[in-house]
Amino acid sequence: MTGEDTIVLMDDMIAWVGLFEDLPVGYEDAPVSDLGGRLVTPGLIDCHTHLVFAGDRAQEFEMRLQGASYEEVARAGGGIISTVTATRETSQEGLVEAALPRLDRLIAEGVTTIEIKSGYGLDHDVEMRMLRAARDLERLRPIAIKTTFLGAHAVPPEYADRDDAYIDDVCIPTLQAAHAEGVVDAVDAFCEGIAFQPAQVARVFDAAKALGLPVKIHAEQLSNLGGAAMAADYGALSADHIEYIDLEGVTAMAAAGSVAVILPGAYYTLRETRMPPIALLRQHGVPMAVATDANPGSSPMTSILLAMNMAATLFRMTPEETLIGVTRHAAQALGLHDRGMILPGMRADLAVWDVQIPAELSYRIGFNPLYKRIYGGQL
Ligand code: NIG
Ligand code: FE
Repeated sequence: MTGEDTIVLMDDMIAWVGLFEDLPVGYEDAPVSDLGGRLVTPGLIDCHTHLVFAGDRAQEFEMRLQGASYEEVARAGGGIISTVTATRETSQEGLVEAALPRLDRLIAEGVTTIEIKSGYGLDHDVEMRMLRAARDLERLRPIAIKTTFLGAHAVPPEYADRDDAYIDDVCIPTLQAAHAEGVVDAVDAFCEGIAFQPAQVARVFDAAKALGLPVKIHAEQLSNLGGAAMAADYGALSADHIEYIDLEGVTAMAAAGSVAVILPGAYYTLRETRMPPIALLRQHGVPMAVATDANPGSSPMTSILLAMNMAATLFRMTPEETLIGVTRHAAQALGLHDRGMILPGMRADLAVWDVQIPAELSYRIGFNPLYKRIYGGQL
């Protein structure tokens, strides 16, 4: 064991990292687990999901196969709104039950922290129900859950053509209620022609700021409204999707330290042809995360390994970038400083893989080489 890489865990923390022969005095009697030279990474972090929802959108999938676009489906009252209808009809317990199999798929791939958004309720009661259901999941499975309020996801049918009233009378008061109940960690908004304009998102972000909550944004997914730059002005943790971002958006993100969350599952599902500008993001030093965007419409994907594979194959991200994208940069996109790296003082969330080199995690399709998962120091 002399020259072996060694990680010492103490309770739920990483206490020491180094070569076995350099093990500090005091640790020699600790129980040893030989991992046989396998690759150990931080527990994976899925920093952008819509995991809590009811129903599915298989019919919409068929419509899109016949040529309808995501925007056409949305404008015809399908899309996000069809999931809103199903979610409104489902109890908190029902939402938890529906989400568990999806969560279990991610846990089985070594995910130890996941972000879950609201945004399929679009009224006070159901947005609260979604956030509470997301928090329930943390009590049912060994995984850390961060909840994001996404009341500004779509305009609900009862507020058709009254989108400003929806923002002011429903979205912002619900955010305040969710914050008062302690069920929200961050605030997101969908800035797009089929959703909200930057000025409307700014009102939601002002409310978030007043509550001391960090913000993030779905921006530049289908067109360029300048959402990423607007969010950067609020010190956004991240701007997500950003296929249509321009140089101004990228430089604003770089200046603000916002993470670019790359979501290849939505790009793939919607047969998008415009790629996120990976080279430009790299050139400007914008940290890139990778996530599943697990949702019933644009990314019905519950595999973070597949997201890594797609980010590499479709966008030419390097295997190192995809791995950092689901660990260190994913933690940064959630504003978390205690995970995402294997260093003393970090949480003991680890994934042990039956692979030799990091590229093996991105290269396979539909194969899960997880050997062991350690969450808070527990196998
Ligand atoms: O990240 N872009 C907006 N929201 C989701 C899609 C949600 C849905 O289609 O249900 C996304 O792609
Ligand atoms: Fe999303």
